[in-house]
Amino acid sequence: MKTEKILIIGAGGQIGVELTQALRNVYGVNNVIASDIREAHPLLQGGPYAMLNAMDAVATLELVRKEGITQIYLLAALLSATGEKDPKRAWEINMQSLLQILDLGVQEKLTKIYWPSSIAVFGTTTPHDNTPQKTVIEPRTVYGISKYAGELWSQYYNQRWGLDVRSLRYPGLISWKSAPGGGTTDYAVEIYHEALKRKQYTCFLSEQTYLPMMYMDDAIRGTIELMEAPAEKIKSRMAYNLSAMSFSPAEIAQSIRAHIPDFSISYAPDFRQQIADGWPKSIDDTAARQDWGWQHKFDLDTMTADMLHHLG
Ligand code: SER
Repeated sequence: MKTEKILIIGAGGQIGVELTQALRNVYGVNNVIASDIREAHPLLQGGPYAMLNAMDAVATLELVRKEGITQIYLLAALLSATGEKDPKRAWEINMQSLLQILDLGVQEKLTKIYWPSSIAVFGTTTPHDNTPQKTVIEPRTVYGISKYAGELWSQYYNQRWGLDVRSLRYPGLISWKSAPGGGTTDYAVEIYHEALKRKQYTCFLSEQTYLPMMYMDDAIRGTIELMEAPAEKIKSRMAYNLSAMSFSPAEIAQSIRAHIPDFSISYAPDFRQQIADGWPKSIDDTAARQDWGWQHKFDLDTMTADMLHHLG
């Protein structure tokens, strides 16, 4: 049996650090090459690492050939809040990197490609409660536009060239090992750090802003389960809705108060409020559950206990 050799692009980000560690546990340290535009994150130093700009198609091709790469996880992207500050750059980075990898996948006959999508594909015209897999999709941020376009391109490459591209629409992801960067859901990570440091947090979203969220452990397990599922089970070559929990800033604060009773929260919504208002409050992920057996494990209170335990 041929051994898979995996390249992770954007491995130094919030998802990448943990996904690299998990994939190394499954496939062996030397079969998972982490790469990022920056120096290696401390948690990535235990295995092979390359400095790589996701926009550099020539360097990526060289690395793929040199290492005999068979699968790529493309995680490099500008997120929703950062993307709104420089929309053209976000479009360029998010789209060019994906199109290059899809072409490379066909040309080098890669066995599988993973590329994350997001709840940001949905917009104000989408039903906000239990948002279905197939619904009105009119993203209002450049990040969301790039993710939805990317889903369509992935489906196109699958249908036209048989490329095995798989994707998930992640909700906001909460983790303690590596920091998020430039997202609208980042408050749900910052709040734990501030609760432990200062017992006070000023939230950039309003009290009753409900958003779909997920603990990183679930997201990583779901990603690997999706990638290991037999191809015939992957009935959607757009990205799958994926859900675990939904809460507001007031509810996460309440959950923290069970551990830190004098924790207080105040609210100072900024430009990210408008982004959040366009996104679903909760997600229907029946398709992922039926097609390849997705199940989440963490809810708000078990996540809070785990986050405070690890950060404390
Ligand atoms: N967490 C992301 C963001 O807030 C959503 O995909 O941009």
